[in-house]
Amino acid sequence: MTKILMVCLGNICRSPLAEGILKAKLSSNFMVDSAGTANYHTGSAPDQRSVAVAKKYGLNISNLKGRQFTVSDFDRFDRIYVMDSSNYQNVTKLARNENDLSKVNFILNEVYPNENFDVPDPYYGGNEGFENIYNMLNEACTIIANNLTSEQNDIS
Ligand code: 4NP
Repeated sequence: MTKILMVCLGNICRSPLAEGILKAKLSSNFMVDSAGTANYHTGSAPDQRSVAVAKKYGLNISNLKGRQFTVSDFDRFDRIYVMDSSNYQNVTKLARNENDLSKVNFILNEVYPNENFDVPDPYYGGNEGFENIYNMLNEACTIIANNLTSEQNDIS
């Protein structure tokens, strides 16, 4: 089973939304989870604005709970998608070897290869920021899901 982890700072805005979007595009042969590099929101539900934009597009992410990224996530996941360059630094500094490092990528590199663009942190903005990140994440997750599904078809 291929396992994918979405990572942001707080695990209440961007990464739970990315988790919900990607899960909805994949079969049960895949596992999708999310985590934050900080521990501010451990055990918390996603931000109401992420819950609302998810609901608008038919997704229920209200039951997710925040947790902090740990080094063991390198063992538990095949791919680790970060939202921005600060997340990238915080995750990669915990990498123990090249194999750990090779699992980490900016999620928007799926849309704009090698550009290392950020999914902007929407926490201090308004609802329009959440619509914007939904659109970015949906575009990236469509590509991720199509690639994962065709890879799986290639080997089965
Ligand atoms: P996220 O957004 O990293 O997309 O979950 C944030 C959530 C909370 C905070 C910052 C960013 N915070 O500072 O509490």
